[in-house]
This record gives sequence, C-alpha cells and structure tokens, in this order.
Amino acid sequence: MRVLVLAGSSRSGSVNARLAALVAELVGRAGATADLAAIGDFPMPVYDGDTEAEQGLPPGALALCERIGAAQALVIASPEYNASVPGVLKNAVDWVSRLRPQPFKDKQALLVSASPSMVGGNRGLWALRVPLEHLGARVYPDMFSLAAAHQAFGDDDTLTDRGLGERLAATVDSFLDLVEADTRYVCLQRRWYEFLGDRTDAPVTSRAQD
Ligand code: FNR
Repeated sequence: MRVLVLAGSSRSGSVNARLAALVAELVGRAGATADLAAIGDFPMPVYDGDTEAEQGLPPGALALCERIGAAQALVIASPEYNASVPGVLKNAVDWVSRLRPQPFKDKQALLVSASPSMVGGNRGLWALRVPLEHLGARVYPDMFSLAAAHQAFGDDDTLTDRGLGERLAATVDSFLDLVEADTRYVCLQRRWYEFLGDRTDAPVTSRAQD
C-alpha cells in the first residue's frame, strides 16, 4: 500500500512537516510505503476560472493529482489558520478538484494537525474535512491534533510524551487497517458518498455541483 503523507506547510521549522515525517515513519513501520511531500512541492497560482479555461490545470496541481492518484490513501498534516484551513491548502484542493476523474473521490484520508496552541489545530481539521468529504474522500473519523507542538518533539523526532506517541501510532495503524480492508475487499466500494460531479454533464451546473 502506498500512502501520500502531505504536510500543509512548507515553512522551515514547520511543526506540521515534522508531524508528517513522524507519520510517514509510522506508515513505513506498519509495512506500507510512505510518499512524504509538502504543499510547497506543488506550486500553483490562486485558482481562477479564466486561468483554468485558458491553460488548464497548472503543472503543480497536475503533479499533486498524480501523487494522490498513485496512493491508496492520503494523510494530511495541516496547520490551523484562524480556526480554519490555510489558504494554500484549500487552493490546492480546489485545483485538484477540477481534474476528472476527480482524485479525492473514494480516497481514504486521515487528518492530523500540530500547533503551538493548546487546541493543536483541531478546528482547522474540522474545516478541512468539509471540502474533502464533499469531494467524496473517506475521511477517517479519528483525527490527531498535537498541542504545544513546538515543545512536543524530542531530539529523535518522536513525541516526548509517550502516551501521545502511542495514540498517534494506534490512530495510524487503525487507519491503515481500514485502507487495507477497503483495498482488498472491493465490495466496500461505492457504498459511501457519491460524488455529484459524476452525475452531470451540463456545463452550467458542473461548477456549482462539483
Ligand atoms: C496561525 N496560527 C494559529 N494557530 C492556532 O492554533 N490556531 C489558529 O487559528 C492560528 N491562526 C494562525 C493564522 C495565521 C495566518 C498564522 C500564520 C498562524 C499559528 C500556527 O499554528 C503556527 O504558526 C504553526 O507553527 C503553523 O504551522 P507550521 O508552519 O509550523 O506547520
């Protein structure tokens, strides 16, 4: 199984990039292949319908679509900006959502966050869940949010709080069990959310319904 682990921040010293690296390590330890990336690896302009009509999807968005498509599952480690999704990440979701077949549809996704605050960026994950579920991603019910993240990592890049480290590992393991079941037992497919964009060819409504 291949899992794209995407950090929603490319800032040097990003706590979410650090958390993404730790999740990638746990994915590898569980026997799956982690494809670690950061949102800055996929530069793209702010979404604009005219740009899309004239030039199609930008190379950065196409590259992200390809990496999502190559994976059975996606983990996003996202910061919380103003209690919501960072614009750069939402912009990437918007661009990716324009490709057909739509890459998020039926994709298993786990959301994690890290923040120096005591909330750990958890409100941002609830906001991120909305567009992903709208696009038909199967967003795992459990999430993991790391509070006081600037002090949470040890020199070995694991979490110094053992209980928290175990909880993160258990969350990743449970998620991978579900991904494996969904990959092997195809009867689970198509019983979930159906992406509305599949049902309309009318250009007037496609943008609204997608
Ligand atoms: C933040 N930060 C923040 N933190 C938080 O817990 N809740 C919030 O609503 C916000 N809002 C917010 C808005 C903006 C514009 C910035 C730049 C920052 C702080 C944020 O969690 C902190 O900068 C993290 O370190 C960002 O994640 P990375 O880049 O370290 O992964």
